[in-house]
Amino acid sequence: MPFAERLLNPHELFGRAAPLVLEIGSGMGETTLAIAKAHPETDFVAIEVHGPGVGSLLNAIQRETLANLRVIRHDALEVLEHMIADDSLAAIHLFFPDPWPKTRHHKRRLVQRQNAALMARKLAPGGVVHAATDWPDYAEQMQQVFAAEPLLEPVARGFTARPATKFAARGARLGHPLRDLYFRRRQKPPAAR
Ligand SMILES: C[S@@+](CC[C@H](N)C(=O)[O-])C[C@H]1O[C@@H](n2cnc3c(N)ncnc32)[C@H](O)[C@@H]1O
Repeated sequence: MPFAERLLNPHELFGRAAPLVLEIGSGMGETTLAIAKAHPETDFVAIEVHGPGVGSLLNAIQRETLANLRVIRHDALEVLEHMIADDSLAAIHLFFPDPWPKTRHHKRRLVQRQNAALMARKLAPGGVVHAATDWPDYAEQMQQVFAAEPLLEPVARGFTARPATKFAARGARLGHPLRDLYFRRRQKPPAAR
């Protein structure tokens, strides 16, 4: 599906009204595919910049004749900004975002204050952002950034379970602790202090 600076209409796109989950950086799409197959009652939009990953997921969608999953090859933050209505998403999935381990590259990490505010704004009240990483200092950064976002509050679980992927397996092999973080859009904005 092409990127456009126009709000996406999920009812039109999927031909029904259903919860909508957006994935940022779907990679080769194994997790995306497994989750979409396990949840036919939910619609999914996966966003990825890497061409071969997008191609592989598109092939899988065709092979499996999946009607509840679409892919956009574009920068996920621009898609969120321009194509997704505020207060609309049941969940945002951010699984193993690029860790940018060198300190001087930390500014390239996706989980930053401004991006967390954008994600929070796009979630429906009660919608959940579910992020996973095997990099302890990134997990710490995610925890701090999401906790500092006034529209979000921590919760114990996500919208769906996250199947293991090669990144999870690699983390386990290297002895990196795996962290899943869940933050929910508050029903009401917190009272001003
Ligand atoms: C380490 S991979 C993880 C892939 C997948 N989530 C998984 O768990 O297997 C991170 C992915 O995020 C993608 N990515 C990074 N920044 C992005 C952005 N701004 N918009 C869309 N995709 C992005 C990269 O191309 C890469 O495929």
